[in-house]
Amino acid sequence: MSKTLQAIRGMNDILPEQTPTWRYLENTLATLLDGYGYKEIRLPVLEFTELFARGIGEGTDVVDKEMYTFLDRNAESLTLRPEGTAGCVRAVLEHGLTGGGQVQKLWYAGPMYRYEKPQKGRYRQFHQVGVEVFNLPGPDIDAELIVLTARLWQKLGLAGSVTLQLNSLGSSEARAVYRDALVAYLQERFEQLDEDSQRRLTTNPLRILDSKNAQTQALLVGAPTLHDYLDEESRVHFEGLKARLDALGIGYEINPKLVRGLDYYGRTVFEWVTDKLGSQGTVCAGGRYDGLISQFGGKPTPGVGFAMGVERLVLLLETLELVPAALHSPADLYLCAFGEPAELAALTLAERLRDAMPGLRLVVNAGAGSFKSQFKKADKSGARFALILGEDELATRVVGCKPLRDDSEQQTIAWDALAQHLATCLAQA
Ligand code: HAM
Repeated sequence: MSKTLQAIRGMNDILPEQTPTWRYLENTLATLLDGYGYKEIRLPVLEFTELFARGIGEGTDVVDKEMYTFLDRNAESLTLRPEGTAGCVRAVLEHGLTGGGQVQKLWYAGPMYRYEKPQKGRYRQFHQVGVEVFNLPGPDIDAELIVLTARLWQKLGLAGSVTLQLNSLGSSEARAVYRDALVAYLQERFEQLDEDSQRRLTTNPLRILDSKNAQTQALLVGAPTLHDYLDEESRVHFEGLKARLDALGIGYEINPKLVRGLDYYGRTVFEWVTDKLGSQGTVCAGGRYDGLISQFGGKPTPGVGFAMGVERLVLLLETLELVPAALHSPADLYLCAFGEPAELAALTLAERLRDAMPGLRLVVNAGAGSFKSQFKKADKSGARFALILGEDELATRVVGCKPLRDDSEQQTIAWDALAQHLATCLAQA
């Protein structure tokens, strides 16, 4: 017996019953981003491996352990994108979109790939909607990104279920001084650190700050904090951001241990988290990466952005029962035809109705069938009315219009009056 074919672990099919929620979320986001003047960019799923190794950073979990990397037929090392920022920066540089200090406010959506341990809210193929802004160095744009996401939560009914965590990582120079101080402190307590943190002490010491290990967290209580090392410019920037969030009435929690898992960040970092999804509670995360473009060989160009996890937001909407019922509304009409001449007439009649009634949801019966079987299908479709076209109706150019959701009488309507009649019927609740 051949083995049943299955999807790859951590890579999910999104089934028809779920896609309306995805579209609702994607459409809400697209409309919102339009409203703030952001433009969509579409980027490849595959890039040269070097882009991520250089951009996200060797020593990060994403680059060291989680990338889907392979050699193509030309022996080039390629990687399925684990995130969108590096590719977006590559694209704006390649097309000169940030030249001469041009401001770019961009967004993208699509699948990302990370070889992580799959669990609820964490997958190997997942989807992000991301935003990246270039050439705006001030805290005003950081605040705009945050208020825009806050508006999304409002629109989706999630405002009470997510909280904002905020931190500043300072300049790269300040961070380097801090890193040395942290390493010196932890080196003295090396034996008490968990295994992962011992490894990170040489590869990526700042990541130890958000270790999940309780003993390591206890050790960190007395450790030097990043804020004591913040440079003056970063401090002013952070104060500017907080003042704007205060003015907007957006609550936040300063989390000095929020460092993020990707190397390119400096100054502002933030995460929107929920306690409704278990351990994978970060639904949106981002920050400033003013050094990344020059690291890729471009002129120094400020950059800031975020990405949200679509699966996690869909899960959250479902968990909190916030998916609008109307999203799953069925067809309006189901057109039954009996006998080949009526079937042919039904086809053209259906197209005439679609012309006359934009947005109409009309299912034409396919596969013929008896009265009984077609009515059964009409009923199952959830349509409000069945239209009936048999030999007699064809001869007199009428259709039977049978309400399926209440006991009112079937009516006989001339083809020419049908669109008008249906528009009136469908407008009634
Ligand atoms: P990230 O924190 O790695 O940041 O991912 C952003 C969001 O993607 C997470 O908060 C989470 O909602 C979702 N996510 C990440 N990994 C998974 C997974 N395995 N399964 C399901 N959802 C996941 C970035 O990717 C940055 N590029 C964000 C950014 C844009 N920073 C500046 N600009």
